Amino acid sequence: MSESFLHSLTDDLSVLEQNGLYKHERQMTSAQSAQINIDGQDRPFLNLCSNNYLGLADNPALITSATKAMKTHGFGVASVRFICGTLDLHRTLEKRLATYLEKDDAILFASCFDANAGLFEALLGPQDAIISDSLNHASLIDGIRLSKAKRYRYANRDMVDLRCQLINAKAQGARRLLVVTDGVFSMGGTIAPLPEISYLSKEFDALVVVDDCHATGILGRAGKGTPWLYDQPANVDVLTGTFGKALGGALGGYICGPQPVIDMLRQRARPYLFSNSLPPAIVAASITALDMVEDANHIREKLSANTMLWRNGLQKIGFEILGDTHPIVPIMVGDAAKATDFQNTLYAKGIFVTAFSYPVVPKGQARIRTQMNARMTEEQIGFALQAFGQAGVGTGVC
Ligand SMILES: Cc1ncc(COP(=O)(O)O)c(C=O)c1O
Repeated sequence: MSESFLHSLTDDLSVLEQNGLYKHERQMTSAQSAQINIDGQDRPFLNLCSNNYLGLADNPALITSATKAMKTHGFGVASVRFICGTLDLHRTLEKRLATYLEKDDAILFASCFDANAGLFEALLGPQDAIISDSLNHASLIDGIRLSKAKRYRYANRDMVDLRCQLINAKAQGARRLLVVTDGVFSMGGTIAPLPEISYLSKEFDALVVVDDCHATGILGRAGKGTPWLYDQPANVDVLTGTFGKALGGALGGYICGPQPVIDMLRQRARPYLFSNSLPPAIVAASITALDMVEDANHIREKLSANTMLWRNGLQKIGFEILGDTHPIVPIMVGDAAKATDFQNTLYAKGIFVTAFSYPVVPKGQARIRTQMNARMTEEQIGFALQAFGQAGVGTGVC
């Protein structure tokens, strides 16, 4: 074992700690929900930082489906899909997803990180080009890096810049063009201008890919996602997403799109070809989650009402918040140390939130990203607003 290797890692870790960038993980001792138990403490905490938007993470119907599937199909599959790891359940979920998202077909991955990591390399070569929003999720950035296509970046949601980059890519003789954006930007809760993106992509004959992780289940008609918010689902060619947020919050990712795209991914996407297929419990519960979510307007209405109560309350207190109507509600703090102080003061008051600072967000733009969910009661939101108000004043955030 190289002692100098380990010493240099320890030095790097100390630097992270000194700069307030070391991520400490708190341990939950209850199921994910609006109210949770943490670190063995007796009192419960209000949880305002999970992706459990619809509150399905501990849903009894999902647990029943998962348990039943383990009895019929076992615990694990012990294979990748193309060797001996394709269950009838996998194809049922893929077809169910394709129907829900109104596309030809779908392909499952172990996570959306894997889906995004495998997508670009499988579809594009050195003669092709990808045009990507500058605030796209890390998994898209990594996936783009893994492909040999030429890369172009446009400023976040800036359609003038997108047009310039499309012109550049075309001028440099790209064969296939692909434009990719998050549907909802996870650090700001802002929504991509999909009609404009589709319009420009049509003009330049580019494929449109949207990572809709923070929208599927909650935005648009029947919770289908961002393209349905604009009532233009057909203008987005490919959707990537996760089961790890609104759709039950466990794990698993997917890509949904035209048949030739899905067929090529099945042949070429490396995280699909070289990684185990999803276990039966997750797949069966995800089928149930889709059935529930499609029919869950009442839950989405509650989520929306909670989000408005939360956003308006924070604004009234005097916080600077980002986003429009999405349950991601970031509170801007600026200084990283102040954001950590705000987070710790809230923790002492029974509120669980996490401060984000550089490199997760740009330097000087530290924030507390709050996320509302449908399970929170009005009383709990009132309690949280009071705690945020006191902590905000106490730490100089507002
Ligand atoms: C926009 C976006 N894309 C992809 C992912 C990755 O999803 P998964 O957790 O399924 O890997 C996330 C998760 O944080 C995300 O927010």
